[in-house]
Amino acid sequence: MKKRKLKTSVYIFIILILVIILCCIFIFKSTGSKKYYSKEAINYIKKENIKNIYQYDYSKTLDEVIKSNNFNASYLDEYLNITYQDQTDFISKLNNYLSIGYSANEINNIFKLSLKNQDKLLSLSKQNDFIKYVGIKNFNINNLDRYNKYLEENNKDIQTTVTYVNINLDKEFYTDSIEINPDDDLTVIVNKYHHLAKDYVPKDMVVLFDSNRGAKMIKEAADAYKDFIEGAKNAGITLESTTAYRSYSYQNTLYTNYVNEDGKEKADTYSARPGSSEHQLGLAVDLNDPNVSGSRLDDKDYEWILNNSYKYGFIVRYTKDNEPITGYMEEPWHIRYLGIDLATKVYNSKLTYEEYYDLYIAEY
Ligand code: DAL
Ligand code: ZN
Repeated sequence: MKKRKLKTSVYIFIILILVIILCCIFIFKSTGSKKYYSKEAINYIKKENIKNIYQYDYSKTLDEVIKSNNFNASYLDEYLNITYQDQTDFISKLNNYLSIGYSANEINNIFKLSLKNQDKLLSLSKQNDFIKYVGIKNFNINNLDRYNKYLEENNKDIQTTVTYVNINLDKEFYTDSIEINPDDDLTVIVNKYHHLAKDYVPKDMVVLFDSNRGAKMIKEAADAYKDFIEGAKNAGITLESTTAYRSYSYQNTLYTNYVNEDGKEKADTYSARPGSSEHQLGLAVDLNDPNVSGSRLDDKDYEWILNNSYKYGFIVRYTKDNEPITGYMEEPWHIRYLGIDLATKVYNSKLTYEEYYDLYIAEY
């Protein structure tokens, strides 16, 4: 009997201990996640008689605003609703956005944009209707009005709209073309919206190994071209170069002749205007199959070029699918050097180089 009583008390004791442990864990957990305002903030809140903020969840934004002496009573509700961001200048940016007139919700979205966009917004008047673009990687706040217009006028999704407008497809070809200086940059874009200076001549060009007409490319591209031709040969495809580097004045002569023959509108579909040709970069080469008569290449050549040039660092720049974006008719013979790594990425993306560049190289 005595033994049984003892046993029962041991059980009760163990249960009690367990209950106490569970209570401790519960109390510890609930206080552990609860955050309290800093002493400075509490003193300030009391001193300034700020309305009962304790009915709201703790706001680190409010705490930090008070601690840094940036509290402005008229923005109390916004401070309570703006999610704190661990980034430099958060408080000063936040106050700037508030003074421009953005709501807490808009500010929470602004902080999801790139740092560049966040900074641009500081110097712009209040922008409306931007929240639908949050999360789009290549969104550029400077193009907001153009995106909205393009969205209204074209049946495209938001991502495509942003990319197309960034590429400038909302403008006629050759409108607002920007002069660029490649400065040894192999990734550079030259097209109907980006041109080279009249006197731009690439450095370090060499004559292509198979050219008796003196066709030149930048050395790295010329070396890759040799590997490319050998690779083709191994696959039973015979290719040779026709032209590679073309100076501004030579492109001018070509383009002028084409315009005289076919008119400007037609010429623009197959020839770049002077300054706007990739050939002036020393990174493009036109191919020819000496065994094909009446045309530069046959289908077998093109098939091989399309699916293998990236392995040597080249892409086919003007395909049929790319026509609306590049503004040029299909040119199976024109390949552009990018280096193996980038050419492979562009090939795998199945995008035009314009789209790829905007999505993965340009920084917004
Ligand atoms: N035929 C290409 C587009 C050029 O003239 O550069
Ligand atoms: Zn070409």
